[in-house]
Amino acid sequence: MTTQITPEILQKLQHIVGESFVFTDEETRNNYGHDETEDYVFPPSVVVKPASAQEISEIVKLANEYKIPVVPIGGRTGLSGGALSIHQGIGLSTDRLNKILEIDERNLQVITEPAVITQVLQDKVLEKGLFYPVDPSSRGSCFIGGNVAENAGGARAVKYGVTKDYVLNLEVVLPTGEIIWTGANTLKNSTGYNLTQLMVGSEGTLGIITKIVLKLWPKNSHNVLMLVPFYKAEQACEAVSAIFMAGIVPSALEFMERDAIDWAIRFIEGVNVDIKDDIQGHLLIEVDGNYPEILMLEAEKIMGVVEQFEIDEILFADTEDQKNALWRMRRGVAEAVKSNSVYKEEDTVVPRYELPTLLKGIKEIGNKYGFKSVCYGHAGDGNLHVNIIKADMTDENWKTEVPKGIREIFELTVSLKGTLSGEHGIGYVQKNFMDIAFDNSQLVLMKNIKKVFDPNNILNPGKIFPDTI
Ligand code: LAC
Ligand code: ZN
Repeated sequence: MTTQITPEILQKLQHIVGESFVFTDEETRNNYGHDETEDYVFPPSVVVKPASAQEISEIVKLANEYKIPVVPIGGRTGLSGGALSIHQGIGLSTDRLNKILEIDERNLQVITEPAVITQVLQDKVLEKGLFYPVDPSSRGSCFIGGNVAENAGGARAVKYGVTKDYVLNLEVVLPTGEIIWTGANTLKNSTGYNLTQLMVGSEGTLGIITKIVLKLWPKNSHNVLMLVPFYKAEQACEAVSAIFMAGIVPSALEFMERDAIDWAIRFIEGVNVDIKDDIQGHLLIEVDGNYPEILMLEAEKIMGVVEQFEIDEILFADTEDQKNALWRMRRGVAEAVKSNSVYKEEDTVVPRYELPTLLKGIKEIGNKYGFKSVCYGHAGDGNLHVNIIKADMTDENWKTEVPKGIREIFELTVSLKGTLSGEHGIGYVQKNFMDIAFDNSQLVLMKNIKKVFDPNNILNPGKIFPDTI
């Protein structure tokens, strides 16, 4: 594959998007050469910023002609390296496709371009009394297009579902340059293969998303938020499935082990939570709805469940400020970990009841290979983020022992009927573990789908599929 961008190709790119939207300087290339995945930097050879699906179509046609890789780049908050230009080529920034096109109050839908920041979209629809519940921790900087590409989840998925549950229809530029809509703007659709959902979570390998139609909910007026300290982290995980089995579906049910909460409190300003020395894990639990009396009854029922475990006093957030502080603390864990040490982040997910077994197994594997892990995540979904911390491990052990440990963690996850990633995607960093989740026939099937869409393998090559396939 050519990664050499010749003056002739540059000129053609300038002709398509305009001279001021083609960048070859080192600073811009580095800027668009990373996301939030560990400390990886893979700058593209050139960054282009098209303004329309039509321009994107012309860029990918050019890329096919010269066999140049094209990597779609959004908000660069990804955690699996989906936006890294590992084979250089054209970094296609969606930055200029940043408008909310229509908020359809009659149908409870929003039509948006991909480079709208998720929180901006949430706030804009909220002004009309509507609710977009998908709430990744990076919502203040991630793009809705990236959320679709990675099928992002976040804290409210436990009750409201993940991005895929909101995507009704997509305008996509295919890797060969055709511009298509994948479906219809309907809540139901049994018409042919589901191209919309094939595109969701395809990590920028099957098409470049240029318009998104999302379903919305009416906004709930009330919520109750509580922080429950557990003396044993595994018991916090056991309480998770017990809450559901008691008949409650919280709107968020997050787990943080001791280090996760300690590091976040130190990292995030304005969070005043006292944690006793012998507390090992926390659940942050939210219920939402329109009737405070019912929410109080649900909260009492949850208290009844968690009190069967060894817990300390529950903290109820009484004010909006307190609620915001607790959420800032929770959302800040990933950045807090990053600021603390070199680390690797895995995104394991298992059926909810298996969570305590997963946590216990991860700690045993860490002991075996000599690494410490900090675990937290969307416990209600059985989704545990595992941060493997380098701390004072030697470079040699970091390089040789940690990958063996990660492999064992994934094997454990799959043996519990779980899988490699719940919401961060496979991208660049997890691709060589795909053989644990899929056998060859499944991988070949996926690879053949990729070939149908992208015969020249120009769109985001080197992602998802193991190097051996
Ligand atoms: C979170 C991100 C890392 O849950 O997924 O904070
Ligand atoms: Zn998460």
